[in-house]
Amino acid sequence: EISGAMAGWHRVAAFCVGLLLLLLSARSSGRPAGKCVGDKSCPPAKPPVVLIPGDLGNQLEAKLNKSTVVHYICYKKTETFFTLWLNLELLVPVAIDCWIDNIRLIYNRTTHTTSSPPGVDIRVPGFGDTFSVEYLDPSKHSVGMYFFSIVQALVDWGYTRGDDVKGAPYDWRKAPNENKEYFSRLQQMIEEMAEKAGGPVVLIAHSMGNLYTLYFLNQQPQAWKDRYIKSFIALGAPWAGVVKTLRVVLSGDNDHIPVISSFRIRSQQRSAVSTNWLFPFPSSWPKDQVLVQTPTTNYTVQDYHRLYTDIDFEDGWMMQQDTESLVRDFTPPGVPVHCLYGIGVPTPEAFQYSDKFPDVDPTVTFGLGDGTVNLHSALQCKRWVGKQKHPVTLMELPGNEHVNMLLNVTTVDYIKKVLFSP
Ligand SMILES: *[C@@H]1O[C@H](CO)[C@@H](O)[C@H](O)[C@H]1NC(C)=O
Ligand SMILES: *[C@@H]1O[C@H](CO)[C@@H](O)[C@H](O)[C@H]1NC(C)=O
Ligand SMILES: *[C@@H]1O[C@H](CO)[C@@H](O)[C@H](O)[C@H]1NC(C)=O
Ligand SMILES: *[C@@H]1O[C@H](CO)[C@@H](O)[C@H](O)[C@H]1NC(C)=O
Repeated sequence: EISGAMAGWHRVAAFCVGLLLLLLSARSSGRPAGKCVGDKSCPPAKPPVVLIPGDLGNQLEAKLNKSTVVHYICYKKTETFFTLWLNLELLVPVAIDCWIDNIRLIYNRTTHTTSSPPGVDIRVPGFGDTFSVEYLDPSKHSVGMYFFSIVQALVDWGYTRGDDVKGAPYDWRKAPNENKEYFSRLQQMIEEMAEKAGGPVVLIAHSMGNLYTLYFLNQQPQAWKDRYIKSFIALGAPWAGVVKTLRVVLSGDNDHIPVISSFRIRSQQRSAVSTNWLFPFPSSWPKDQVLVQTPTTNYTVQDYHRLYTDIDFEDGWMMQQDTESLVRDFTPPGVPVHCLYGIGVPTPEAFQYSDKFPDVDPTVTFGLGDGTVNLHSALQCKRWVGKQKHPVTLMELPGNEHVNMLLNVTTVDYIKKVLFSP
């Protein structure tokens, strides 16, 4: 079984290297720069598209050279990078303990930054191509299907993968404060695509990718945005955070992968800065709404410090403070925005714990939303209406679950309309 997994890694590695070679050869065939950048009188037929994924929304690879492991079956050393996310072979009993020990982050209270455990090297494959965001699992299990439907539709409309539609994957375990290099690569990629096409780019983000995109746009001068961005299509955006993240940090949440125990995976989930970043934002959540209830205490957005203290996870509180200023003032993006969001799927709104808190699964109170993002959070997009000169459009998608909305023909048709309207 272990050697089977190893053979799998080699196949995966070979597959990824093959794709990277394809990417490189595609890159070297550049056409001369267009002449219409910034000139509205001569719009391109097909605006280039950049895809910005959400939390867990692109592949991650690891290479190991560890001196200690948590179980004798775990690899200490690998010759090459192998797929760490999403790799279903690693998410089975026992192997998952190795996986957790490789994907977790360690927080340094002095530098306020995170790093991988000693001997673990993590990289993000596929920046500038689409494979890393189309399928989370390189073996293309349908369970990991992500941006595939949208990319395939774009190809059907004449786009080319890795040329005028590119993915911008990143290390989603971290928040933007620890991904500075990502944003400069993203900026450069957008500029190159716009120059080549002779017109501005459309950004399509999903879930947490929208907060990354907002952060990115907030850093850019207005003249840059006017020149390079045609519009921003925000799919399932958690503009004010997500209640579900509280459960993830408190007691763990295995709902994506039912074979995993919640408590096992909690230590890994807690260590992700992004999960702590996405707690409901105190600046936009009702101050008196009880989000977590235990027999002795009610916690609202004003009680996060106490909550972290009570679960003995002080690092989490520090991560909160490190990330709270990133997007919470909710400065408009300064480009045309289209917010598409699902409703009609029961969405966690509050958690009640027994006296075993936090080492027990909670009772969940459900409210409105897409199953992950609370409607209240999705609707924050409205706050930009009239606050920027560019249009802000909201579109509700009844019956659409958070990830499945990427597969829905209504979403795809909407994207087509945005791309091909002047
Ligand atoms: C692996 O780690 C050891 C120290 O733990 C180091 O001496 C060795 O050079 C490393 N090997 C590689 C290939 O990085
Ligand atoms: C945190 O970072 C500082 C500065 O780089 C370093 O001196 C210290 O050893 C680190 N702490 C831990 C626990 O690794
Ligand atoms: C928590 O709030 C609920 C109502 O939301 C209330 O019934 C309960 O008494 C409160 N518990 C504590 C400990 O304050
Ligand atoms: C797609 O979205 C539309 C609009 O929300 C909805 O009516 C329809 O049921 C969805 N289709 C599927 C297959 O989920």
